Amino acid sequence: MITIKSEREIELMRHAGMLVSKMHQFIKPYIKPGISTLELDRLCEEFIRSNDAIPTEKGYEGYPASICASINDVVVHGIPHEKDVLKSGDIITIDVVIGYKGYQGDAAWTYAVGEVDDNKKYLMEHTEKALYEGISMVKPGNRIGDISAAVQKYAEKHNLGVVRELCGHGIGKEMHEDPEVPNFGIENTGPKLKPGMVICIEPMLTFGKRDIYLLEDEWTVVTQDGSDAAHYEHTVLVTENGYEILTPRLD
Ligand code: MF3
Ligand code: CO
Repeated sequence: MITIKSEREIELMRHAGMLVSKMHQFIKPYIKPGISTLELDRLCEEFIRSNDAIPTEKGYEGYPASICASINDVVVHGIPHEKDVLKSGDIITIDVVIGYKGYQGDAAWTYAVGEVDDNKKYLMEHTEKALYEGISMVKPGNRIGDISAAVQKYAEKHNLGVVRELCGHGIGKEMHEDPEVPNFGIENTGPKLKPGMVICIEPMLTFGKRDIYLLEDEWTVVTQDGSDAAHYEHTVLVTENGYEILTPRLD
């Protein structure tokens, strides 16, 4: 069931979304060679709790941390660890869900650590642009498939792999609600967008082949060919005329 949020709910989701944006802004200066992903997790958890909010990922289906920290060929759900220390040339995706008064905000973006090569820059730039291509399709009357097709078209035009097994989602009281928002699909298919719906759009693109596998920890998703992956995500409200990004970038 796809829920339509009330004005009051939207206000709370705006607040949750803004905390997600502020957490990304807060953590960015720490993303430097030498820091471990466990330390990033600790800083993020402290930031979230000091803002009267909840790190929703912690304990979700047993997930042990407040953020996902996915380095290089890790596509999603990298578990923070003291042994995972950033080095110059890495890329790392920080993905976080924050709950405020029972409502969720969710955003991911990929950061460069120190100086990264041109291939990594290309992957990051075009994964973020693929996200905005998808977002540009959000308005009442359009369908989920319009978003999916726009993301896929942009990604494939730029020769990037579109991970199929993972998709975006509705969001509200729960971090994952209906509908599913795939990153590939066909225009004019799927559920119709209506004002008051809130969805997360989140292309996960690879520099090489799009195939992935799950590590034995049952969380970490990596590319099969070892190529780099990037992941950008926003929480997006469908408005009367178009959309509002509830997790705006503050940098
Ligand atoms: N933030 C992720 C998403 O975009 C979900 C995180 S999974 C968790 O859907 F287990 F870490 F919570
Ligand atoms: Co999400």
